[in-house]
Amino acid sequence: MGRLENIMGALPRFEQLPAWLRADLRSDHAGELGAVYIYRGILAVTTDVALRDFADRHLRQEREHLHFFEAWLSPAQRSALLPLWRFSGFILGALSALFGPAAVYTTIDAVERFVVAHYARQIARLQMTGDGVAIAEVLQNFCADEQRHRNDAVQRHPVQKRARLAGAWAAIVALGSRIAVCTARWV
Ligand SMILES: [Fe+2]
Ligand SMILES: [Fe+2]
Repeated sequence: MGRLENIMGALPRFEQLPAWLRADLRSDHAGELGAVYIYRGILAVTTDVALRDFADRHLRQEREHLHFFEAWLSPAQRSALLPLWRFSGFILGALSALFGPAAVYTTIDAVERFVVAHYARQIARLQMTGDGVAIAEVLQNFCADEQRHRNDAVQRHPVQKRARLAGAWAAIVALGSRIAVCTARWV
C-alpha cells in the first residue's frame, strides 16, 4: 500500500478508540495474518500452475492488508495468540491444497464470505456511530478486495460442481473462522 503513510496520518491513535472497535481491529489483524498464512500454506503444497497464480495474487493483497494493521497496532495491542493464527491459517491452506484445487476454492469461498460479512458489520457500525469515517473507508477497500477474492474462487469452482461434502467442509471452515474471531477480539 503506497499510500500507507497518508492513510495512517488520517487515522486516530489506536489507544484512543472505543473498546469495541479495538477488539474488532485486533480480530482484523489476526484474520489478515491468518489469511497470509492460508495462502502460504497453499503455496507450500500445490504445484498446480493456475492455483499457484491464484494464491500468489491473493497473497500479495493479504500482505498489504496485514501491513496496514501492523503499522497501526503496536505488538502489545495485537492478539496474544498470533502463533496460533499463523499455524491455523497455514494448516488450513496446506490441508485444502493436499485435496486439490477444488478443495482450496471451496475453502477460500467460505473464508472470504465470512471475512466480507465480518468487515461489513464493522463498517455499518462505524458509519452508524460516526466513530471513524477514515477507518470505515479503509475497511471498505479491504472488504472489496475480499469480495474479489471470493468471486475469483467461486468462478474457478462453479456451484454445480460442488459436492455435499464441500458444503460440510465450508460449514466447518466458517465455524472455525467464527471461533477465531471471537477469541482474537479479546485475547
Ligand atoms: Fe485480507
Ligand atoms: Fe482475502
